[in-house]
Amino acid sequence: MSFRLVVLVSGSGTNLQALLDATASDAFGARVVAVGADRHGIEGLTRAERAGVPTFVEQVSDHADRDEWDENLAVRIAEHKPDLVVSAGFMKILGPRVLAAFPVVNTHPALLPAFPGAHAVRDALAYGVRLTGCTVHLVDTGVDTGPVIAQEAVAVREGDDEETLHERIKTVERRLLVEVVGRMARDGWTVTGRTVRIGRTGEPGGAGRTGREESFQQCQEPGGTK
Ligand code: GRF
Repeated sequence: MSFRLVVLVSGSGTNLQALLDATASDAFGARVVAVGADRHGIEGLTRAERAGVPTFVEQVSDHADRDEWDENLAVRIAEHKPDLVVSAGFMKILGPRVLAAFPVVNTHPALLPAFPGAHAVRDALAYGVRLTGCTVHLVDTGVDTGPVIAQEAVAVREGDDEETLHERIKTVERRLLVEVVGRMARDGWTVTGRTVRIGRTGEPGGAGRTGREESFQQCQEPGGTK
């Protein structure tokens, strides 16, 4: 049985599409079992429906408060028994119940810890950096503060505006996200403090463990973030 992904989206869902395309091949080692959103009527949900993947929507405004939303979102995600949750352009801060229940990776359009938050590309341009990029990281309770898994740089070009730069970052971001999620699914990962290592552990030479449960287990040192 293949590694199960639940993907969370809030918008156009091009990162989701990259995952849907990659997971169409069995060799990828994972499949998208559900797509969740925090709003209705977005292209990301249409992409999931087109691919025949079940969807669900949990809007903050349908709940008394963020806490209740978090609780309900955790239940909706759990129904699909994910091995990993992927936040792919999900524009809400995930709450403690979701984060306690599942490992979550996020893709962010800047080289963290520079420019966290919802306007990373705009902020990078306003600062005048010549180099920015994207980061795939584990999610913790902070805003884009979780341990970094992978990063790739993208140069800012003369005349770039938020849209042109973001589009160029997203081209790199989609490839990096697919690559990282695939490796995590096939090889497992460990977290030691802020260091995320993808790959089987336990034997010299990297022969690794053979059991699926063991290889996907995360280990954590006291004081680690996830
Ligand atoms: C990505 O750049 C993601 O990092 C950011 O929003 C964008 C989502 O794009 N948070 P898409 O919805 O996957 O096309």
